[in-house]
Amino acid sequence: MKNKILEIKENSQKEIKQIENLEQLNLFRIKYTGKSGLLTEVMRGMRDVPKEERPMLGSLVNEVRTFIESEIENLETKFNEIELNKKLANEKIDITAPSKNSETGTFHPIQRTFNKLIDACVEMGFEVVTGPEVELDKYNFEMLNVPKDHPARDMQDTFYITEDIVLRTHTSPVQARVMEKRQPPIKIISPGRTYRVDNDATHSPVFHQIEGLVVDKNISLLDLKMMLTKLLKILFGENTKVRFRPSYFPFTEPSVEVDVSCPNCNGEGCNLCKKTGWMELMGAGIVNPKVLENCGIDPKEYSGFAFGQGIDRLTMVMDKIPDMRMMFENDIRFLKQVK
Ligand code: PHE
Repeated sequence: MKNKILEIKENSQKEIKQIENLEQLNLFRIKYTGKSGLLTEVMRGMRDVPKEERPMLGSLVNEVRTFIESEIENLETKFNEIELNKKLANEKIDITAPSKNSETGTFHPIQRTFNKLIDACVEMGFEVVTGPEVELDKYNFEMLNVPKDHPARDMQDTFYITEDIVLRTHTSPVQARVMEKRQPPIKIISPGRTYRVDNDATHSPVFHQIEGLVVDKNISLLDLKMMLTKLLKILFGENTKVRFRPSYFPFTEPSVEVDVSCPNCNGEGCNLCKKTGWMELMGAGIVNPKVLENCGIDPKEYSGFAFGQGIDRLTMVMDKIPDMRMMFENDIRFLKQVK
């Protein structure tokens, strides 16, 4: 029995030297220390051994088992290490290799113009309010002093959904909605998408506006002129000239058209300003007392001014975009160029 045990030890020592990988090591483990392995078999044979010899033989078997198990463990650690190193070598990252190009996103040029205007207005104390794009005729026209048969409706070619519902032709209905709900002081801007039946190089059926409205006691045309001059100088630079021309809108009286000296040529005259040196920017005026009345604000106590600024043409000037339709095609090459 003792010899058998020593033989097992000797054989195991020989065999273990030849083991080259984890698979072979596993077979070796099963052969010697497994449930029906050689050592287990020897233990079973203990029954036939005289009682006095059992302790000695038992501890010998344990010794051999411990020896084999520690050999297995050592080898296992070694093979695992080898495997890991192999993996690391294969998966090595070359930090000097050129990277794959990843695209960075940007704001659409129209959104950039919006952001500039909104930031400037918020700094002046305006609150930003939005309203629905599918709008009731009542807010888009009637409360703004444009009744159904009014000739001014021809100024704005309208998409009608039903007789009483339109795609808003300007962001001005938001001022009616706000005034209907609140009493002055009111100081809001309303940016958003607007719609008119129009489609060529300088008109898109979908376009963008920002509306401004200030209603309080003693608001006059002077306030309007001061505020807009300040805003436009923030946007285009301190040396920009601002010009107010008389105009007509049903919702303002008096009404003005606001121009700035062309930001492209500084008023010298270029193709963008059609050699005039001026750029038409927005409509504005003193809120027509009828509009205040329609919205439940007493025109004897309060007055206000409003302005409506188109965003699209302004963006074309600032980013030198030759055709308005390019801004809505979502061609990524265009968006990259005007970044
Ligand atoms: N809503 C007008 C338009 O779109 C612009 C405007 C707004 C004019 C406010 C005067 C006052 O044409």
